[in-house]
Amino acid sequence: MRRAIYPGTFDPITNGHLDIIERSTRVFDEVIIALLMNIEKKPMFSIQERVEMIQQVNRWKHVKVDTFQGLLVHYAVSQKAQVIVRGIRAVSDYEYELQMALMNRRLEPSLETVFMMSAEEYSHLSSSLIKEVFVLGGSITGLVPQVVEERMRSKLGR
Ligand code: COA
Repeated sequence: MRRAIYPGTFDPITNGHLDIIERSTRVFDEVIIALLMNIEKKPMFSIQERVEMIQQVNRWKHVKVDTFQGLLVHYAVSQKAQVIVRGIRAVSDYEYELQMALMNRRLEPSLETVFMMSAEEYSHLSSSLIKEVFVLGGSITGLVPQVVEERMRSKLGR
């Protein structure tokens, strides 16, 4: 049983994240999308809203949604996961990801970090960029699932 954790803030989940999840389901028996209850980032959506949106777009039987606090490696061990999945969008992601992967390995050598290259069409995406474009009136169609776009509309009263 190969269980992987796909961690992040997911504020909100984008088609880029879904692409990585789809790829992960082909490699692992079970994938847990783990939302960090992040005190540093000021989210647009509450943790409950983010979980709900992910549940609404989760079309895979072996993909679960969960939340965590504290160290990712502690959470991964508590879930009996062997792997952390991270998406790499561009060369600029590499340095930060390398740092995290090495620190996580030092903290918990039994855990492996697996990097997946995101699809080209999503390699420029980030949740913040999507929020910025949307708030300023630009189109985000095709970049996020429809339910997410609808939630963003109602949040801004559009
Ligand atoms: N498609 C689209 N966007 C993507 C993406 C993809 N494939 N992969 C990443 N992104 C976006 C995210 O939406 C995020 O956007 P934002 O900054 O605008 O919100 C941005 O890229 C950065 O994503 P990510 O690097 O995944 O940051 P994160 O904050 O979502 O998650 C954790 C980082 C949760 C993995 C990390 O902070 C963590 O593990 N924290 C727990 C504490 C801990 O263990 N610390 C020690 C680590 S060594």
